[in-house]
Amino acid sequence: MSDADQRTVLVTGATGNIGRHIVATLAAAGHPVRAASRHRPTDPAAATSHVPFDWHDPATHQPAVDGVHAVYLMPPPASADPVGQVGAFLDLAQDAGVRRIVLLSSSAVRTGDPGPGQLHATIADRLPQWTVLRPSWFMHNFVGAHPHAHSILRDGEIVTATGDGRVGFIDAADIAAVAVRALTDPTPHNAEHLLTGPQTHSYADVAAMISEVSGRPVRHRTVDADTMRHRLADLGIPHGFAALLAGMDAAIAAGSEDRTTSTVADVTGRAPTSLRDFCTAHAAHWRPI
Ligand SMILES: NC(=O)c1ccc[n+]([C@@H]2O[C@H](COP(=O)([O-])OP(=O)(O)OC[C@H]3O[C@@H](n4cnc5c(N)ncnc54)[C@H](OP(=O)(O)O)[C@@H]3O)[C@@H](O)[C@H]2O)c1
Repeated sequence: MSDADQRTVLVTGATGNIGRHIVATLAAAGHPVRAASRHRPTDPAAATSHVPFDWHDPATHQPAVDGVHAVYLMPPPASADPVGQVGAFLDLAQDAGVRRIVLLSSSAVRTGDPGPGQLHATIADRLPQWTVLRPSWFMHNFVGAHPHAHSILRDGEIVTATGDGRVGFIDAADIAAVAVRALTDPTPHNAEHLLTGPQTHSYADVAAMISEVSGRPVRHRTVDADTMRHRLADLGIPHGFAALLAGMDAAIAAGSEDRTTSTVADVTGRAPTSLRDFCTAHAAHWRPI
């Protein structure tokens, strides 16, 4: 039986917050999976299924998609205009027989918006089986490699241009659980999924919760969108993408993310993780030494 017959799933961003959960879930279920990333995953199950994949090295694309049925597609990171790169990849993928794409987008990106928003229609127009995941902001931004995680540990603060705006923060594992269903359900979803956690919180709420569970004093410092844009650019984020992110903060301040949906529970059959449970589970990460 060929790979395609076995419905192999290619997972891009396989070492990332969401991708590693997707690979682990598929591998544990015995589903054929290919873990695509530049670096080799450390998890043994993912390492054995690893294929080198770099958005900026087209020579890695064909071997990754050969014999694949479905792709979890994380667009090129930090790109404000990913349509060209993703379009060329889709040409290869469709020629190789890929039938289903599950695209990672964002709750802040609407179909038809410039840049990443153009990908929604591209996927829906070109693939017979498609899903667009539009998650809210990740709880994992407060741990790991994200600028918020660094500033919590270094300065005891989270800096945003979100004011008192509220966000339906979501656990990456819940996004991955929806992605696995979209990749493997016999009936394709052919839908956009707007994904949030169970409640909305302001960044001041997040800072207070981290302080409470860890004992490390953390505050939220709000700045204007232009200051935020410069701050992100100074951290090495490309200028176009820094402007996009600062604009999203301004939209949050105006209330754009003050909403929750039941989609995680509707698709997976279980309630999404709350921010409090996430913070409690990660308290050791922030605890002062
Ligand atoms: N953070 C948020 O709150 C939020 C909210 C909504 C949507 N999003 C979206 O989520 C995505 C980030 O997801 P995530 O947190 O899972 O990412 P992540 O944890 O930062 O992981 C990034 C993944 O991409 C891979 N990667 C990096 N550069 C690459 C390249 N040039 N070619 C191929 N692979 C590359 C990395 O592996 P290697 O380094 O090994 O290649 C890694 O597996 C972005 O598309 C963002 O727009 C984020």
